[in-house]
Amino acid sequence: MTIRLGDDAPDFTAQTTEGEVNFHEWLGDSWGVLFSHPKDYTPVCTTELGMAARLKPEFEKRGVKIIGLSVDPLASHEGWAKDIEETQGAAVNFPMIADADKKVADLYDMIHPNASDTFTVRSVYVIGADKKVKLMLTYPASTGRNFDEILRVIDSLQLTAKHSVATPVNWKDGDDCIIVPAVSDEDAKEKFPKGWTAIKPYLRVTPQPNK
Ligand code: BEZ
Repeated sequence: MTIRLGDDAPDFTAQTTEGEVNFHEWLGDSWGVLFSHPKDYTPVCTTELGMAARLKPEFEKRGVKIIGLSVDPLASHEGWAKDIEETQGAAVNFPMIADADKKVADLYDMIHPNASDTFTVRSVYVIGADKKVKLMLTYPASTGRNFDEILRVIDSLQLTAKHSVATPVNWKDGDDCIIVPAVSDEDAKEKFPKGWTAIKPYLRVTPQPNK
């Protein structure tokens, strides 16, 4: 099944390092990040999991739960977690799905056979509180992801959801935002009391609303 932006995030029940998880129940009212790793005991993945563990408070601040996946069994995840704590200075503090039968990997199209028949690629799915897919990223096995970028996109997505703004090229938290075209000037007067600059009628720039 192809997953596209705006689709319902497929639900599943899986074994994880924190017990059996039903994905939608586990998400509750939170946003979620589901991210896959090619394999346990691999170097790039080890650094990514250490970083994700260190950044967990940043995800929590945004109301986002994180959950990893690798197509190895639970005992392997548990042994690898010890190495991650030892080498990365942070213990894995979120569930890791043990997807040995590739059920979740198949559901989320995380195996790209022309890259590898057996390993998952580095997929990232950001899921909103409405359980819809908000972002999909796919990296090759050899490139570690930038978790600051994942947080940046979540900030942008949450601003859009709450304040009807979009974010321009290379935007970072605190920078000016763009009023989405669907908001008329009339409605914008009420929504954006700090005002805006209309560089073109379709390019209206306003200070970040929640700052
Ligand atoms: C890694 O996580 O280091 C890795 C995994 C598969 C292929 C290449 C690198």
